[in-house]
Amino acid sequence: MKTLDRISEDWVLATEIHKLESRLWRSTRKEGIKIVLVSSPNRGEGKSTTVAYLASALALHPERRILAADFDFRDPQLNAHFEVPVERTLGDAIGGECRLQDAILKTELPSLDLALPNQKGEDPGLLLRTRECSLTIEYFREHYDLVLIDVPALLPVADAAVLLPFVDGVILVTMAGRTTKPALRRAREICLGMGVRILGLVVGNLKEALPEHGGGRYYEYYKRKKEKGEGSSEGDAGGDRQARFRPEGAAGQSGDASWGPKLGGRGKRGKKPIAVTRNLDRLAGSQ
Ligand SMILES: Nc1ncnc2c1ncn2[C@@H]1O[C@H](COP(=O)(O)OP(=O)(O)OP(=O)(O)O)[C@@H](O)[C@H]1O
Ligand SMILES: [Mg+2]
Repeated sequence: MKTLDRISEDWVLATEIHKLESRLWRSTRKEGIKIVLVSSPNRGEGKSTTVAYLASALALHPERRILAADFDFRDPQLNAHFEVPVERTLGDAIGGECRLQDAILKTELPSLDLALPNQKGEDPGLLLRTRECSLTIEYFREHYDLVLIDVPALLPVADAAVLLPFVDGVILVTMAGRTTKPALRRAREICLGMGVRILGLVVGNLKEALPEHGGGRYYEYYKRKKEKGEGSSEGDAGGDRQARFRPEGAAGQSGDASWGPKLGGRGKRGKKPIAVTRNLDRLAGSQ
C-alpha cells in the first residue's frame, strides 16, 4: 500500500501523521465523534492525501474499524493512494444497484475499509441529497469506529455543505502558499453556520511555502536533540514544535497569533479544536 510504504520510509512524516492520528483518535473517543468530513476551502489543497494517510495511520491499530469514504463524485482521487480493485461503488449502492456492504472494499490493512464513488456518471448534486445517501452514512456510523469522508472543496460546489448535517465534525485542510485567509474564513463560516464543529486544521506544504518555518528546520532541531540523546518521544517533539510554530500562523498568515485557535474555536458545541498539525510537507512526497 503506497501510503504505508511512505509512512514507514519517512519518520518525519510518520511523526506528524501519528501525532494527528493520536489526537484525533483520543478526542473522538472521548466525545463520541464517529463521522469526520475532511474538506478545504478550494481545490487541490490536500484533502484526499490527508484522508489517505490519516486513515492508514489510524488503521495501524488492529482493534479499530476505520473507513475512508470518498464522496468526491466529481473527481475521485482517494483510490490513487490505495489502488484497490473496484467492483462495486458507493454510487451503485446509493442508486440501489447493490447492497451497501457489497460496495465496501477491503485494503491490505484489516482495520481499514474503503468506499469509493463511481468514476463518472452520477450527478453528485442529486445523489448526495437522496435519503439513501444519508442512510449510507448512518450505516457507516453503526459499523465503524471512525469514518473519514473525502469531499470536494467547500467554496466552489455545494457537495460538502450538503453532507455537513450528517457529520460530527470537520477537519479543514489548507495548503501553505495557496490557501488564502478570506477563503479559509469563508469555509469556516460555512461549517459553523451549519452548526458543525471544526475539529482541526491541517496545513500542508509548509516546507515549500515557508521554508524557514517548515519541516527542514524542525528536522535539524530534532536530529540535534536526538544526537544528544534527548526528546525521542512524540510528546517532546510535538511540544517543541507547537511552541515554535504557534506565533507564526500558517498559509501566509504570518503574525496573526490568534488565528489558529480561533479557527476551530466556537462551533455550536463550543469546543476547542482537537487536531491541528502544521507540518505535513512530506505527505505527498514534496521534499
Ligand atoms: N501536505 C502536502 N504538501 C505538499 N503537497 C501536497 C500535500 N498534500 C497534497 N499535496 C499535493 O497537492 C496536490 C493535490 O493533492 P490532493 O489530491 O490530496 O488534493 P485535494 O484537495 O484532494 O484535491 P481536489 O480538490 O482536486 O480533490 C497533489 O499533487 C498532492 O501530491
Ligand atoms: Mg481530492
